[in-house]
Amino acid sequence: MHQKAATILQLFRQQGGFVSGEQLSRELGVSRTAVWKHISTLRAAGYQVEAFPSRGYRLISSPDTLSTEEISVQLNTAIIGKRLVNLALTASTNAEAFRLAEDGAVEGAVVTADEQNKGKGRLGRTWSSPPGANLYCSVILRPKIKPLEAPQLTFLSAVAVARAIEQVTGLKPEIKWPNDVLIGGKKVAGLLNEMSAETDGINFVILGIGVNLNMTADQFPGDLRHPATSLYIETGVKVGRARFTALLLNELDRLYADFLDHGFALVRREWQERCNADGREVVISNHGCADIRGQFAGIDSDGALLVQGPDGAIERILSGDVRVL
Ligand code: BTN
Repeated sequence: MHQKAATILQLFRQQGGFVSGEQLSRELGVSRTAVWKHISTLRAAGYQVEAFPSRGYRLISSPDTLSTEEISVQLNTAIIGKRLVNLALTASTNAEAFRLAEDGAVEGAVVTADEQNKGKGRLGRTWSSPPGANLYCSVILRPKIKPLEAPQLTFLSAVAVARAIEQVTGLKPEIKWPNDVLIGGKKVAGLLNEMSAETDGINFVILGIGVNLNMTADQFPGDLRHPATSLYIETGVKVGRARFTALLLNELDRLYADFLDHGFALVRREWQERCNADGREVVISNHGCADIRGQFAGIDSDGALLVQGPDGAIERILSGDVRVL
């Protein structure tokens, strides 16, 4: 978007009502005719702008885009979102962010896309990513932590997603180990971290976050292993994608600052409070191994699930499917 059109949007939002043509032309340093042209550009991009000869212009509504202008105007962060890249179509925002990080992209850079045609899920699965419906985003972080501590960062994204969903919908999402976010037992968001590291240090971590926002039931593939949902299916109300993205990045930024200053404790506590298994009896099935049954006993500092067996011994679970009894 042209810088002047973006400035007009900013002025609309700061003032919240009519902005006179005269003020716009003064602040932008252009003629009234040029202002009118920039307003036409905004309208062509889907912004509804009302014009009254005596009062000026007023923003009525914004299109549901993930444009960097729309996100950045609602961002309130120190690190995350320092650089925003929005793509119409990409194979996978994780793959794109990985490439940018290898090229030296700053910590906090975020890649979003309108559509992915090779969206990656955990365990080599694909992540269904139809155009214009959901949030597909990847955040580049460069924390000075050991590679073994990196899984802690996925817990950060899970808590940030849960907080953002709660703010937007008022619903109470739950987190399922390791990192699915659920509403009413159905998956609404998935997280996929990828890392580049040496033996003793991390080069960067990519936090991949997919949230089903406005997807309709018929847009889900028929072969899903677990029941899935979207915020729209749950509430009947469409969610502004840029608004949701900004809220999520704002939460992630706060959690990340706390993580860098004080470590994993706060995130771990909130993750456990939001976990669907907290204090419950669980069964873990792991491909090819016998089921493990016991009491949920939290997560370890490396992200392993802790389960207390009937004999009181704590078992560490690194992978598997958790069923709450
Ligand atoms: C899961 O299997 O639950 C993880 C899904 C992660 C999907 C997100 S969408 C944005 C980012 N880019 C990808 O290719 N995957 C992640």
